[in-house]
Amino acid sequence: MTHAVCPGSFDPPTLGHLDVIGRVAGLFEQVTVAVLINPDKRGLFTVPERLELLRVATAGWPNVSVDSFHGLLVDYCSAAGIGAIVKGLRAVSDFEYELQMAQMNHGLTGVDTLFLPTSPAYSFVSSSLVKQVAGYGGDVSRLLPDVVSAALASKAGQR
Ligand code: PNS
Repeated sequence: MTHAVCPGSFDPPTLGHLDVIGRVAGLFEQVTVAVLINPDKRGLFTVPERLELLRVATAGWPNVSVDSFHGLLVDYCSAAGIGAIVKGLRAVSDFEYELQMAQMNHGLTGVDTLFLPTSPAYSFVSSSLVKQVAGYGGDVSRLLPDVVSAALASKAGQR
């Protein structure tokens, strides 16, 4: 179990995500942050934009790489030789759905999911809330990597 994946939408990546990714990087030899390509859901940031934000934000961890995937996460794991999925849990409310997905994924290919509690400092942070608050002009910069704050401000300027 030397290669783990941190999957998600990352629209956009937050310091909550980075907290989990950084801790996983200390536990596994290799970590891939995998962005889901979801054709049914148009995000604020395109997938290439999210990949670039993640590349910059994770540049300090040499064993972390960034990729995108479509289809089933378990198929991506099998193709990439990834033995573990790691998910951050912010609160008990996250657990119910995450447990369901973990059991489904294990049933499909036997891949295991590990849960890491997020730092309490970020337990209320979600990409969707960050976008909502920023959309109304609120300051969310202390919850985001600098590169994401700048990208969010630039999106707001474009609208
Ligand atoms: O950041 P998100 O949106 O909570 O991430 C959810 C994600 C991407 C991890 C989950 O939706 C996923 O794994 N999607 C890929 C499709 C898949 O494998 N679905 C079956 C899950 S049991």
